[in-house]
Amino acid sequence: MKKQKIEIPLEVFEAVSELPIDIQELMNKAQQARENAYAPYSRFRVGAALQLSSGKIVLGNNQENAAFPSGLCAERVAVFNAGANFPNEIITALAITVRSENKKISEAIAPCGACRQSLAEYEQKQKSPIEIYFMGETGEIIKVASVMDLLPLGFDAKYL
Ligand code: THU
Repeated sequence: MKKQKIEIPLEVFEAVSELPIDIQELMNKAQQARENAYAPYSRFRVGAALQLSSGKIVLGNNQENAAFPSGLCAERVAVFNAGANFPNEIITALAITVRSENKKISEAIAPCGACRQSLAEYEQKQKSPIEIYFMGETGEIIKVASVMDLLPLGFDAKYL
């Protein structure tokens, strides 16, 4: 038996103003999208903004449903939106932000496991990494350089 460790390389930014200028704009768009979330049950709003290589920005936010599992996370709404409407464009970056109506969230909130899996599919399909920047309502922003950094030991099509 041998023990191994997997490390996740992260970059931490203290404020949105520290981000590259195009990513500041992307995070601003994610914040706007967040406010259009349909989250009457959790009151936890999530906004996601994807940057495409053409410069287009594709938005998503969480869409809830009275039959709870029928709802969908912001990140998947965004990436399925891009997949449906711009199937041949490369996704270069994703910005994610959350706001709860119940409490102030100032820690960076990473995408859920199902969203990581869905995002990984598109990263593999396009054969180039998607940078992910995620934050709370305020506070620091964490960047990972690739979806795979958030999904070590993931499952993908090569095993099929
Ligand atoms: N949610 C997202 O939109 N993205 C995530 O990565 C985690 C959770 C949404 C789903 C649900 O509408 C609400 O946040 C509470 O779980």
